[in-house]
Amino acid sequence: MSELPDWQIEIDAGAGRWQAEVNAAESLEALRSLEVQALGKQGEIPALMKRIPQILPQDRKGFGQAVNALQATVAAAIEVRRQALVETLIAAELNDTSFDPTQAALPLRVGHPHPLSTVQADIEAIFTSMGFHVLDYPEIESEFDNFEALNIPGWHPAREMQDTFWLESGHLLRTHTSSGQVRAMHEFKAPFRAIFPGKVFRYESTDASHEHTFHQVEGLMIDRKVTVGHLLDSMRTLLSAILQREVEIRLRPGYFPFVEPGFELDIRCQVCAGAGCSACKRRGWLELLPCGLVHPNVLRAGGLDPDEWQGWAFGLGLSRLVMMRYGVPDVRLLMGGDLRFLSQF
Ligand code: DAH
Repeated sequence: MSELPDWQIEIDAGAGRWQAEVNAAESLEALRSLEVQALGKQGEIPALMKRIPQILPQDRKGFGQAVNALQATVAAAIEVRRQALVETLIAAELNDTSFDPTQAALPLRVGHPHPLSTVQADIEAIFTSMGFHVLDYPEIESEFDNFEALNIPGWHPAREMQDTFWLESGHLLRTHTSSGQVRAMHEFKAPFRAIFPGKVFRYESTDASHEHTFHQVEGLMIDRKVTVGHLLDSMRTLLSAILQREVEIRLRPGYFPFVEPGFELDIRCQVCAGAGCSACKRRGWLELLPCGLVHPNVLRAGGLDPDEWQGWAFGLGLSRLVMMRYGVPDVRLLMGGDLRFLSQF
């Protein structure tokens, strides 16, 4: 009887040992780490091949075949064990009495548009019907577009009206949608009409009527011979459409560096019809939005000649309008992400 070479004995023993270890693996994770240990790139079985130089030349072919066979045997054993473990897991899951496959599923929770989106869509529909573009401008802006182009140079006290989040790059988070005005003038030249809704950001402490992130809609119309009359008429059309009734509005002087003249637009209180109530603080009027005729400096920054072109602009507080429409008492609810609040709409 010819004696088996030492390596053959070792490989045969290895096969038995690996088989036993594989069968003892109690979880898929344990099996996986065993697989890595045996067959992985740095595994013990592939490492055997490195011993070829120490094997007698006439035995090398047999050695190589034996290692390959060992590898195949162990791989097959692992597969068999894996199947068995998976079946056990499935059986355990099926036998789990806490799971009742006949029970009805929980009702699906169907989402719906956020109230800000609903009101924004209404406003977009109204303005689109009057020939306005709806534009989407960046939330990260240059100091130029947010301030300078709007006739608010660095020294201007109006900068203090809007506390700003500055980025390390020197850019900022836009403090108002007016930052799109000069962009739009460069993009569309004249004449054009557009609204640009979006998020704006202020570095300030929050309370029921202040939020660091809120929503505005900017409106801008550039044409020849634009007057305050156009502005008034557009605003009345807008507000009657949104509130779905004829509304009475009035203008009061207001100061904003990028309009001249600038106004605060008030709306007759919808709660008391002007008699005076707590909603309008007994004034009979509610302050709704600021607006005005575009300042010549802003037209110039937009590359337009103020002797030829004029325009009106408004900045609508979308968050505020949503609060008025739905009677939301605290602006922080709007972006708070609380489903108990949102699911009421
Ligand atoms: N951008 C101003 C703000 O956020 C609001 C505003 C005022 C916009 C007058 C306008 C305007 O377009 O004409 O405080």
